[in-house]
Amino acid sequence: MNLNTELGTQKDMIKKSNSEKKNEELLEKREEALMGGGQKAIDKQSEKGKLTARQRVELLLDPGTFSETNMFVRHNCSNFNLEKKKFYTDGVVTGFGQVNGKLVYVYSQDFTILGGSLGEAQAKKIAYTMDQALQNGAPLIGFNDSGGARIQEGANSLAGYGDIFIRNVRASGVIPQISCMVGPSAGGAVYSPALTDFVIMTEDTSYMFVTGPSVVKAVTGEDATFEELGGASIHSANSGIAHLTGSDEIESIEFIKLLLSYLPSNNLEDPPIKKITVTNDADLECLNSVIPEDPQIPYDVREIILRVVDKGNFLEIQKKWAQNIIVGFSRLNGYPIGIVANQPNNLAGALDINASSKAARFIRFCDAFNIPIISFVDVPGFLPGLDQEHNGIIKHGAKLIYAYAEATVPKLTVITRKAYGGAYIVMGSKHLATDMNFAWPSAEIAVMGAEGAVQVLYRRDLAKSDDKETLLEELKNEFIEEFNNPYLAAEKGYIDDVILPSETRRKLIAALWPLLRKRDKLPNKKHGNVPL
Ligand code: HXC
Repeated sequence: MNLNTELGTQKDMIKKSNSEKKNEELLEKREEALMGGGQKAIDKQSEKGKLTARQRVELLLDPGTFSETNMFVRHNCSNFNLEKKKFYTDGVVTGFGQVNGKLVYVYSQDFTILGGSLGEAQAKKIAYTMDQALQNGAPLIGFNDSGGARIQEGANSLAGYGDIFIRNVRASGVIPQISCMVGPSAGGAVYSPALTDFVIMTEDTSYMFVTGPSVVKAVTGEDATFEELGGASIHSANSGIAHLTGSDEIESIEFIKLLLSYLPSNNLEDPPIKKITVTNDADLECLNSVIPEDPQIPYDVREIILRVVDKGNFLEIQKKWAQNIIVGFSRLNGYPIGIVANQPNNLAGALDINASSKAARFIRFCDAFNIPIISFVDVPGFLPGLDQEHNGIIKHGAKLIYAYAEATVPKLTVITRKAYGGAYIVMGSKHLATDMNFAWPSAEIAVMGAEGAVQVLYRRDLAKSDDKETLLEELKNEFIEEFNNPYLAAEKGYIDDVILPSETRRKLIAALWPLLRKRDKLPNKKHGNVPL
């Protein structure tokens, strides 16, 4: 071997070992990044019954589909010796992947790194993920597990939240945004989830509040635990902030997948059609006797919904809040739909402030994402009372009118029993540009119920009468005979068809089919002024 050849071989060996070293270095850095804040912090996380940021992403996405972005990002802050606490990812795992074959973007805050707190670098990563989701028209999913603004980074942390908020708003109505709460969310940090379309909370381990228990105690003197102030039970039943609640993180993640199964990837797509699942004839026959003989007796409107829609397809949203109205996603002949239904079992199905807000927001979401709306109506009116009036039922009820009137997606309505007064108009009446309105023979479409009506119309006669009770009964029966039916409205074309309850599914499927080609546009404007 001459000298030149020998030198060449040695050089090759050195080159190889250098590249090997570099590869090893990369793998080591990756390993470090994958360990987040370290084993001790991970153990602490599991002791609290919480998964790690990466486990959450893995459980959400189809196996092997996750592409991570910006793994090696670190903060650049040295306030309060923060330069000694630098971690790859900077406390958030970001990237994209697939859920049941559909592209989604995801960020997952890592509590093991500085408590998942958000500084400049973390905010930039999240903002980049949001930009990519918006640009490529795919849903954005965020796992929130964070101590909030990173205190050491001061105004840079606050600026980071601002950068996220503006993206939440700009993406609103363009791509679905889902927030999954799997830990703390405190202070202004709660506003990013609040700006998204759906908030899923996890029982026992997640909480959301603007000011924590100690500040509340100092300012108002009230005592409350984290759970009492902003746990999943409070936000699902009292505030309505949580749309869905998982008993643990696995269930919360299942809810994300279920939600996505009804949604298009963006506002320019149609929602995903699934294989048709029929209901059986016996179920449909039962509908003929579902309405009680006595109109004062309540019933559970879910008994109607579950029989009419495709079997096993109903995802109820905000189940425990404003229970006098039911909203949720479902399918009719495989096509995704949004259901809005008065619930006679709760407050007789009357519309109040919370029910109006709940239904209005749901309708606006469906409209933004091309999901047809089907309404089941049994409503005695707006809930009377000082509390309702003083707290703005006028404004909140107007939201619901606005939402129905503004929606250009296919809209179908079925009046099953009461449809009285203003509430009749609000609840997807023909007058708010609904496409097809059906009524069951049990429908009562009137300005008000018989009792109230005769008290107004015959006040003087009743006052003069010796047998007030008999007269009242006679007048009521007369009124019921004349007005409490669907035929006066049908004569005017306010009702397209009076149908047997057992025909409802078939009629709705037939009505929906041509409407899938519907094109309707609002007048050009910057945006409307919904009564907030
Ligand atoms: C920096 C933080 C942090 C924060 C937690 N950590 N929150 N570091 N900034 N905001 C760090 C802790 O110092 C600790 O670091 C590690 O994360 C784990 O936190 P622990 O306190 O040990 O965990 P735990 O006992 O589970 O308590 C969790 C917690 C608590 C309740 C969230 O950490 C907490 O109260 N944090 C502050 C919450 C808060 O007030 N945030 C600001 C909200 S205002 P070491 O090194 O010890 O492990 C806000 C404004 C946003 O966010 C405005 C937007 C417009």
